[in-house]
Amino acid sequence: MTRGIWRYAHLFADGGATAAQARARGWTLGEGDTPLQQWPDLAAELGLRSLALKREDLNPGRSHKDRGLLYQVAHHHLAAGAPSTFVVSSSGNAAISAAAACRATGDRLLAFVAPDTAPSKRARLRDSGAVVIASERPINFARYAARVFGLVNLRGTADPVSPIGYRSLAGEIAEQAPEVDAVLTFASSGTSCRGLLDGFAALGRPVGVWAVQAGVCLGIARARQPDLEEEPDNPAGRLGIRNPPDADALAEALQASGGGAVVVRRPELEAMADRMQTRDLQTSAEGAAVLAAVRRAADGPLADRHVVAVITGDASQWARHGAGAEPAPDAADGVSDYLALRALLLGLGLEPV
Ligand SMILES: Cc1ncc(COP(=O)(O)O)c(C=O)c1O
Repeated sequence: MTRGIWRYAHLFADGGATAAQARARGWTLGEGDTPLQQWPDLAAELGLRSLALKREDLNPGRSHKDRGLLYQVAHHHLAAGAPSTFVVSSSGNAAISAAAACRATGDRLLAFVAPDTAPSKRARLRDSGAVVIASERPINFARYAARVFGLVNLRGTADPVSPIGYRSLAGEIAEQAPEVDAVLTFASSGTSCRGLLDGFAALGRPVGVWAVQAGVCLGIARARQPDLEEEPDNPAGRLGIRNPPDADALAEALQASGGGAVVVRRPELEAMADRMQTRDLQTSAEGAAVLAAVRRAADGPLADRHVVAVITGDASQWARHGAGAEPAPDAADGVSDYLALRALLLGLGLEPV
């Protein structure tokens, strides 16, 4: 039986063509089919019908991004008809998944990261075959490379294909929890929220999708609550996107689904992380934020609902769990200006378009 995202060909908007070809070529990261774990005590305490954790942190890349990035890379590889070079600007889960996807498809990835990106993350990207380019302006440098050299930028907000792979997450949740009526997930760009909304719509399932936001990632929640204050010392969403370009439209779509946005503050998140610790459950700060949001909304819109909380990233991403103490990054792969970047790209054999 096909596993992973390609099992959900019927949810992708192209009649299943991408999935059929990807399957035939054996393109997989071992992604998906993640467990759904019930937490009955907390559900009872909060007055929910049920509460289950969708453990996306157990994907090979340690996050749900494996789904979205594999779909994007497969789609663009097939559209190009040949292996190509992609760019991504992210120091986090998206780049890790993009590197793994490019390795699976035989494409090349240029990963633009910030100078303070941990050595372990850079090493992981390099081990997957990515070219790592550190700079003070990773987003702009990636845009430049894409525009001048005609490369596809995999950044969620730059690629309309980016939400599609997350429809598979809706498909799995609907199979594992047929009774579900609310799904909460941490949102930065909102790409995965959009994919969940589209997936449940394609399934004809009325599920309320909730974007959990925190720290400096408040753009989607601000569409309805413009006065929200940033909380820079909140560990969730620390490197996330402040203002996704389609925040208003996404906020409207979330509301139309019966969901919306919930903002959680640091003390709530830390209290929930302590609670999770009693079950030996360590996740990213974003995972704790989602459960803190469940608690916050439990006697309001989530009361008496069947709730699924998506745990999007793993414990190694949060210093609280002891993985934050790393040596300072070296500057070996740094690029300081556009001339140097252009020279580097030409040196990689790329040609301006
Ligand atoms: C752990 C984790 N959770 C949630 C998100 C948010 O996903 P999106 O950008 O699709 O809103 C990210 C994005 O990078 C992430 O790394």
